[in-house]
Amino acid sequence: MAIKTLAGMTALLLASASAQAAPRDPLAPTGRWSANTDGRAPTPPMGWNSWNAFATDVDEEKVLASAQRIVDTGLAAKGYRYVNLDEGWWDHRRADGRMLVRADKFPSAATPDGATSFRPFTDRLHAMGLKAGIYTDLGRNTCAQAYGPNEPNLPRGSVTEREVGLYGHIDQDIALYFGAWGFDYIKIDGCGLRAYGEDSPLVRAGRHRALAPLLDLENVNRSNIPAVRGMFEQVKAALVRADPDGDYLLSLCIWGSANVRAWAKDVGNISRTSDDITPHWTRLLTNFDTAARRPLYAHPGSWNDPDMLFIGKGEFDAEHLTEARSHFALWAMVSAPLLIGADLRTTPQSLMDIFGNAALIAIDQDPAGNQAVLAFDTDDFQILVKTLADGEKAVALFNRTAAPIEATLTAQHLKLRADAPIALTDVWTGARSSLQGERKFKLAPHETLVFRAEGPRLLADGFYLSELPGIVNPAVDGVTAPMPDPSIHRAVVAWSGSRGAGQRPIYAGWGGAQADATPYGRELEIAGKRLTAGLGVLANSRLEVRNPGYRQLTLSVGVDDSATDASRPVTFTVYGDRKLLASSGPLRRGMVPKSLAVNVAGVKLVELVARAPGAVNEKLPVVWGEAAYHR
Ligand code: GLA
Repeated sequence: MAIKTLAGMTALLLASASAQAAPRDPLAPTGRWSANTDGRAPTPPMGWNSWNAFATDVDEEKVLASAQRIVDTGLAAKGYRYVNLDEGWWDHRRADGRMLVRADKFPSAATPDGATSFRPFTDRLHAMGLKAGIYTDLGRNTCAQAYGPNEPNLPRGSVTEREVGLYGHIDQDIALYFGAWGFDYIKIDGCGLRAYGEDSPLVRAGRHRALAPLLDLENVNRSNIPAVRGMFEQVKAALVRADPDGDYLLSLCIWGSANVRAWAKDVGNISRTSDDITPHWTRLLTNFDTAARRPLYAHPGSWNDPDMLFIGKGEFDAEHLTEARSHFALWAMVSAPLLIGADLRTTPQSLMDIFGNAALIAIDQDPAGNQAVLAFDTDDFQILVKTLADGEKAVALFNRTAAPIEATLTAQHLKLRADAPIALTDVWTGARSSLQGERKFKLAPHETLVFRAEGPRLLADGFYLSELPGIVNPAVDGVTAPMPDPSIHRAVVAWSGSRGAGQRPIYAGWGGAQADATPYGRELEIAGKRLTAGLGVLANSRLEVRNPGYRQLTLSVGVDDSATDASRPVTFTVYGDRKLLASSGPLRRGMVPKSLAVNVAGVKLVELVARAPGAVNEKLPVVWGEAAYHR
């Protein structure tokens, strides 16, 4: 539009100034699904990563040998496709900014002019039908430079030559890795934004330049969340430029810091929810817990990442098949990336069989992308239920303890009817059996039983939304002050042992939206009535719900009885493709739930908005009770 007059120009400037002055109401319906769907992660990525097996002592032969085994053993045909280099590949950054590969460890990268290129390496992987992944850091320097300064293969040269992270080089590096070198996947660590403050011993010793930390793993309030998020957004923009056909995968690795568990879903394809896994049972519990309580934050395109598989070592080696099987089964239930961390040259068949379990791979890769929801939850034993694309359920019975357990699975856990037989197929043995109403199971220490379950659903003509977390996105979850989640197992961490005061709750997420529970993990209850299904979220929140063709949405909404604010009213409003469809009127704590039946035929995106102007959201958990889609 050409603006011809001065008055026209002034009007335009005034209009844009007032648009800037009025911030967008985050609870206003947008009609748009805001969780990330760019990049290539319609299902969680599967493949292999060098770190757990080799740490920085990685080389071309080791990587290609594992890649070859992935092809030769049939794992590639089962979906394992990414072969990812982790830390240990850099040589140094040249004066003009170009990154150089350690050609002594990756001989195919050597070039006559010394510029090095990973193109022959990625060509090789591509020729094997695989995809190639690379690793970097968002800061100037890396994790091993900070935490393993005596490890082999660290970057060499002057202070600036050893600055191999993306900081200040996002476009240049991404263009090199994806455009010139042909990588398909990038894992981006955050140690460079965490470990290089002015008082760090390595900085003081002159080994590295200082970079004021933006990330603080222990204290979410000391992280600069907008700055870190902004940098990941820059990376994503660079990926889109370097790889316009969208064949890239962006993996965020800031270990659950900076409240990333709430916003990574809008930026990347997978995001680490916790610090590193180690080959110990209790560490598995920690990493699992950080993802297992976040089903509404995972969707096709963007997944929770409790870290790579550690099957093959320590308490997950071939002497610990029960634990190794549990590890794999739990990761499949929570739709985690399945990234093998073992040296496949020497992995015994019993463990290869776990990686190759087709029934569990299918559960992980189910196209509906519903992360399992906790149907029963204690520190000792849990039941997880995942609704699959064909309507069947996958159910895991997980004995977290070192003693045998007798557990009862009920039809109610599965949201299936108690008065009809439910067919069960054991994913480990293929054995078929059934239950009606309920059934007892015996579990060995650390055992996870997994079944596919098929029977008539409680809702004959549809699903509860809490059964379908893959289509529910907490666009605004109402959390105003991120707080650490106290429900996550706190293991002794290998790298600090029992020095200091112990692991404290560190991973923010407490108060986030939940399926079949309140944001603080309680059972849903409105005016004394327990609700076995529903979405629990804080007031002043907006949930986006895709509608894959249902006609009706029914709800029973109200303020949860656990609210500590009894006076402030909440209004529950349902929008369909931005149009107002229904509203509850004001509801306070203690008022009976308000039933709504909403016609959503033809609507693509439903938005559920709970408004309580002026409220302290954390005092007002609300319930989209028994929220259900019907055909
Ligand atoms: C961090 C990451 C690990 C691994 C190492 C490499 O600790 O969390 O997964 O990439 O860095 O140094």
